[in-house]
Amino acid sequence: MGPCRVLRRIGVLAVLALLAGPQVASAQAAPPKETLRAVPLGTAVRLSALRDDTRYRDTFLREFDSLTPENELKMAALQPRRGQFDFTTADALVDFARRNGRPVHGHALVWGLALPPWVIDHGASDEIGLRLPPIVLPALPGALGKGLANSATVLTGWRRDELLSIMTTHIRTVMRHFAGDVAEWDVVNEPMADDGGPSPSVWRRFIGPDYVEHALRAARAADPKAKLFINEYGVEAPGRKLEGLVELVRDLQKRDVPLDGIGLQMHSHILGFHDQATLEGTMRRFAAMGLEVQVTEMDVGTSLLNVAGLDRLTRQAEAYGAAARACNAVAACQRFTTWGITDRLSWIGVGEAPLLFDAAYKPKPAFAAVRNAFAPRMERAAAPARQARRWRWRAGTGARCGWGSCSGLRAGRR
Ligand code: G3I
Repeated sequence: MGPCRVLRRIGVLAVLALLAGPQVASAQAAPPKETLRAVPLGTAVRLSALRDDTRYRDTFLREFDSLTPENELKMAALQPRRGQFDFTTADALVDFARRNGRPVHGHALVWGLALPPWVIDHGASDEIGLRLPPIVLPALPGALGKGLANSATVLTGWRRDELLSIMTTHIRTVMRHFAGDVAEWDVVNEPMADDGGPSPSVWRRFIGPDYVEHALRAARAADPKAKLFINEYGVEAPGRKLEGLVELVRDLQKRDVPLDGIGLQMHSHILGFHDQATLEGTMRRFAAMGLEVQVTEMDVGTSLLNVAGLDRLTRQAEAYGAAARACNAVAACQRFTTWGITDRLSWIGVGEAPLLFDAAYKPKPAFAAVRNAFAPRMERAAAPARQARRWRWRAGTGARCGWGSCSGLRAGRR
């Protein structure tokens, strides 16, 4: 989701929330102790920050069980030129995760954004998939004609079979490269539009809506052991988009298309988040379809309107708490991931203060809310320090995982 779309959405949510009043999401009582269970807490990470910022690295190792590379596994990063894969950065991040015993959630194989320019240009479409009509140029003689003919080829877009082959080759190459190290993948990211239909993208435009099916089948064939997810935003509560996604899943299942789980992104805002019962309801719908559920990208923006008497951080804790308790209460919800560690490095900017740790890495009330929801796991993870100590020791010895010098980082793994 592009920042503009998010800000627009946040704006709408803010207005709705103000109209609806404070009942939109009230604080929920903690669930009885026996319903609490271990749910791994994950976060999106950036390799650059893990390397350069000790506090970032220590906070990750102390508080989080798994990681999702924020950008390093996207197509723009992995296949910058057609047929030429660059795994340097991604390998370093996956190696870091393996050395520190953290599972990696792979994000994302097929998406309409974060594409390399060669995919976008040839599709004659911009990054958000705006449809541009094919341009038919008159035949002109000589060099000029030749140049224009080339442009015309570019502007008329992809042939279906060509783009399908590019997509499946990308999936196969990436999943095989990481087989054994990345056990779950967002195979298709954000396939739905707000109206419940397919979202526009180069894949949807030139392959057709069945690109989702082809992607999932290619993913299963590439690494039969990996769990395959569709990851989506704005489907946490009943509405046209959620219904559209449920319909898509039903259709895929009817035709035996492999799919293991749904990622609920949960980009939210203090002025318009969903309560525990609503979120539980959505999770249970997918669970009833035999799917795993994960909260994959939670953040809760706190900026915008200056509402008198609103304690932003308390409100934010309520939003996180509602989602964490919902996940905790539904057995199918098997991971809870926030979209970053610290407000300082959030994709929507430090001003939104949307994460569990502030810009100085101090835990916020939201962290306590998540901690309370997942109490047993947190107790187990009271080993913070053991992990962090081990890391520091390794780094200090200059062993191969030390990133002080980064000399231990390998350029490629296979
Ligand atoms: O790496 C380049 C750098 O080389 C260049 O100098 C710089 C100049 O702008 O850009 C850098 O790339 C940026 C990249 O993040 C890495 O920082 C891109 O411009 C920027 O658009 C990109 O934004 C990411 C966005 O997805 C698009 O890929 C955000 O960090 C990331 O948080 C966001 O994550 C998405 C999920 O993948 C899917 N769900 C929604 C979520 C939020 O939009």
